[in-house]
Amino acid sequence: MKSLEAYQSCINNALVSRLQGDEFSEPKGLYEPCKYILQNGGKRVRASLVLLASKMFSDSYEQALPVSLAFETFHNFTLIHDDIMDKAPIRRGIPTVHVKWDENTAILSGDAVMIIAYRFFEESGIFVPQLFRLLNKTALEVCEGQQYDVDLEKASLSDSFVSESVYLKMIELKTSVLLAACLKAGAIVGGASAEDADRMYEIGRLIGVAFQLQDDVLDTFGNEKTFGKKIGGDIRVNKKTYLLIKALQVLQNTDKEDLLHLMSDESIDEVEKFNKVVSLYNKADVKALTVSKISTYFEKAQSILEEIQIDDSKKQELRLFMTELLCREY
Ligand code: IPE
Ligand code: IPE
Ligand code: MG
Ligand code: MG
Ligand code: MG
Repeated sequence: MKSLEAYQSCINNALVSRLQGDEFSEPKGLYEPCKYILQNGGKRVRASLVLLASKMFSDSYEQALPVSLAFETFHNFTLIHDDIMDKAPIRRGIPTVHVKWDENTAILSGDAVMIIAYRFFEESGIFVPQLFRLLNKTALEVCEGQQYDVDLEKASLSDSFVSESVYLKMIELKTSVLLAACLKAGAIVGGASAEDADRMYEIGRLIGVAFQLQDDVLDTFGNEKTFGKKIGGDIRVNKKTYLLIKALQVLQNTDKEDLLHLMSDESIDEVEKFNKVVSLYNKADVKALTVSKISTYFEKAQSILEEIQIDDSKKQELRLFMTELLCREY
């Protein structure tokens, strides 16, 4: 992502240098997986958003680096445990921690990555009390979102709980509040007013919902090489994605019955299930419906950005980031 390039390299360098000391060396069985998840790629969207937001309200972003590392590290912790929960074999083009090692290793090193996040956070200077509340509130919301994701996954499609509104609530919690908190945290460190920090939160919340909708699209329609994850994982484990919920709204009669049957049949071959579900998704044109929903979130985010009273040139990076995100394939 061009808009984030400068931040990405700064974050990668900082992570490598923070992790190479004695503090995180022994036992290797614990720390190798931590370094594996933290140093093998990732777009660094969350950390970049902290830095970008900080720079919008001040001339530099270095002061926000510890907070940005904390949020990025927290995100990586959630990924280790999420991959166990979702039975995901590949992330960022390489085996997930629980596949490369085992589940116990992934549980414990995931815990350690979360504590490392808090360790980075200690270095955030005078902003610690305020940002600590934001991080903790957000972290708990992410857990709530993950629980709703599990509840939805288990719920029968005939259950009224499986709905567009519950899905949107779930992705707001599991994904978007973290992006929102990153923009707000950066704004706070950059010296923004409370009103502008809240506007930044709202922009992040809207971008975050769009981001997860895109993630759902890519999980079904993406390319494994560019996306870095195994395509079809959501369909395989019967995730109640926006695509599925929309398809069930659009399809009629036997098409709808077929989709309901495919998403509840435990005996069907994985590849056959994927191909049949995708063909029904295509029939319902759910990709286009989701892309149009995504656009509405970005438009709303753009309009809130216009309300912020800073020099227009200061908004340019965030605008560019949104434009790039709109057509992401990775
Ligand atoms: C993956 O996040 C988890 C979601 C919330 C969809 P990213 O797509 O930002 O993952 P990385 O960090 O770039 O690998
Ligand atoms: C991830 O959602 C949300 C969190 C990790 C909290 P997904 O399960 O859709 O993310 P991916 O697709 O595995 O990256
Ligand atoms: Mg998940
Ligand atoms: Mg997952
Ligand atoms: Mg996903």
